[in-house]
Amino acid sequence: MNVQEVREKFPMTKKYAYLNVANHGPPSLPVQDAVRGFLDDWDNLSRHGDKRTEEACVSFGKLINARPHEVCAQPNTSAGLTAVAETLKWRRGSNVVINDLENSANQVPWLSQRRRGVDVRIISGVDGAVRVEDVEEAMDDNTVALSISHVQWLTGARSDLRTLASIAHDHGALLVVDGIQAAGSLAVDVKRDDVDFYACGSYKWLLGPSGAGFLYVREELIDDLEPSFYGYRAVGKLDLDKPKLKETAKKMELGEPAYLSFVGTKAGVDMFLELGPGAIEERVLKLSGMLHDGLAELGVDLMSPSDEGLRSGVVSFSIDDAAKLRDQLRAAGIVVSLRPIGIRVSADFYNTEEEVERLLEHVGAFLS
Ligand SMILES: Cc1ncc(COP(=O)(O)O)c(C=O)c1O
Repeated sequence: MNVQEVREKFPMTKKYAYLNVANHGPPSLPVQDAVRGFLDDWDNLSRHGDKRTEEACVSFGKLINARPHEVCAQPNTSAGLTAVAETLKWRRGSNVVINDLENSANQVPWLSQRRRGVDVRIISGVDGAVRVEDVEEAMDDNTVALSISHVQWLTGARSDLRTLASIAHDHGALLVVDGIQAAGSLAVDVKRDDVDFYACGSYKWLLGPSGAGFLYVREELIDDLEPSFYGYRAVGKLDLDKPKLKETAKKMELGEPAYLSFVGTKAGVDMFLELGPGAIEERVLKLSGMLHDGLAELGVDLMSPSDEGLRSGVVSFSIDDAAKLRDQLRAAGIVVSLRPIGIRVSADFYNTEEEVERLLEHVGAFLS
């Protein structure tokens, strides 16, 4: 990958060392052009919003190795996760397994199932990650779902989805994944990993505007899925006596999608497909490896697991006066996030080694 060429597509890189994609992706030129193009088309009565939303779903499907009929449009990750939580077949004595590291987007939809009497089992993360043995212990044959992030929003711990799917399936349970901190940074393959549901929003590593999201539903589950809420987009031919649901993941949809966001997000996803998910993952892990090593050398308290198998694009560390450091970095043109556990840094494929080194130098100077 020619990083300098790539950076030409990201005007923000001329102003900032933007190490904050885990919060929001920067607007690349392809995304800006796609959005402007859509507005022009709209002005000329040719916006074709449904077709272009579907094209975005197809691109997202390619990104995670799903077929087009397994992907539906959602407004964000939370909507996808909520649609799943509300739709699963809960029985008396059912439980769901989540954990305390998750973003609340992947806790609230499950906690709210307590109103149906569902036992919500919350595993405690250890050293920033969910241990497989703790998942095994929490699950039993009454577990309906295990819901976990592919990459944790604060610690960056990467889940071994294949192993988790196998444990879940041994208990007759489903694996539900929050993918927003992984898709667009790591090479995702829902088939290889045997994932049942994968929800993802547009505005982080997918580099799109907010307002778009995707939900993958494994093909074999679609027929039996009886969504507890759905709208006209879920219905095929409308029979007023008995609306017939579509026979694809689109049976989980409601009304008109945020076309503009889907159009922009498709441009972001297509950039990723063009550069190659493998090449992007390699670059993201190289930069996050530099961050891990550099921060460890500085002696700061890393909140992200250092085990290479657990690494992702998200690296966090705790430090005294974290807000002051964030402000000083910002004044020096380096953008990171202040989070409850300290500073979160997230480098994407358009970032450079020099930017990472610059961040490390500032942290070193702050400590001395
Ligand atoms: C892991 C994770 N899941 C979900 C969300 C929220 O996603 P959305 O706004 O698309 O619902 C975030 C946002 O920070 C996140 O980091």
